[in-house]
Amino acid sequence: MPTPQSGILPASSAHALFVLLRRRLGRRVDATLRAMLAAIPDRIDQVALEAPETLTLGSVGIGANAWGDLFGDARPQALRGFPRIPGAIHPAPSTDADLLLHLRGERCDLLYELGERLVADLAEWFDPVETTACFRYRDGRDLTGFVEGTENPQGDERVAVALVGQEDADWAGGSYAHVQRYVHRMNEWQKLPVKQQEAVIGRTKDTDEELSDDDKPLTAHVRRVEIEQDGEELEILRQSMPYGMPGGEKGLLFASYCRTPVNFEKMLARMVSPTADGRVDHLLNYTRAVSGAAFFVPSREVLASLSS
Ligand code: HEM
Repeated sequence: MPTPQSGILPASSAHALFVLLRRRLGRRVDATLRAMLAAIPDRIDQVALEAPETLTLGSVGIGANAWGDLFGDARPQALRGFPRIPGAIHPAPSTDADLLLHLRGERCDLLYELGERLVADLAEWFDPVETTACFRYRDGRDLTGFVEGTENPQGDERVAVALVGQEDADWAGGSYAHVQRYVHRMNEWQKLPVKQQEAVIGRTKDTDEELSDDDKPLTAHVRRVEIEQDGEELEILRQSMPYGMPGGEKGLLFASYCRTPVNFEKMLARMVSPTADGRVDHLLNYTRAVSGAAFFVPSREVLASLSS
């Protein structure tokens, strides 16, 4: 199996930077840009080597619109843009972005330095459109106070869920990434009694246990995103993290990796668009998406081939 980029599989970090960038009009892709993109995984590794305790990791993703100029006609089978969900009654906006930098590690100062250098080097070709600095909140909680990430696949399952395999052999080791920035309505959320918050999520707040089917409404977040197909539950590997400023915007930077874009698309559809029973995800009464983008994160070998 080709080598996945380092930001995809490992358990969550203390800090992360998500940078969405857009192609500058009229700037042609040239050998300098190709070499620069090809070298990003090594530059991330270099930080990790110089300061091993920082466990610095990262991924570079490329959007469907920029793909052809970089890689030509060859493309991952399911590469496409962020989905438009028919009948959505909650926002799921799509952001015009061509490149994702997902940098993560234990030292936010080094992530800042690395991010700043990469964005400066890419500035001739790309403008940053949204940068989010994220942090681990307490014991891995979302700012709503609920533990986030519990039901993520573990161990070898992470590889099976997140990485393209032999079904699209030329792109094996790559991953379909989706990111969305959610802004929480914290005042409304905090007015809600804990019992009702638990019904919105579908798990207990303090102890992070799944509610029984009787106590878990059909509108609970976990009920909306649990989808069974051919006897198997659809899965994604989430690398979401909280962000925020005291007195300012705050919420969750949702991020997922998967061997197919379909699982995220189906989950999002069940969150924002009413199913036959008229239900949507009640979590969306307390948070709303303000950006969204889809990328393919190629294996290290494929990214390195850009410079050859
Ligand atoms: C589970 C929060 C958006 C997919 C959870 C859990 C929380 C949570 C607290 C339960 C613990 C866990 O297993 O992680 C949030 C918040 C969101 C958000 C605050 C946005 C503000 C999304 C989106 C998707 C998604 C956009 C996919 C489209 C999932 C999945 C699970 C989950 C697959 C695991 C369900 C299970 O197997 O029990 N989320 N989530 N979430 N979420 Fe979200």
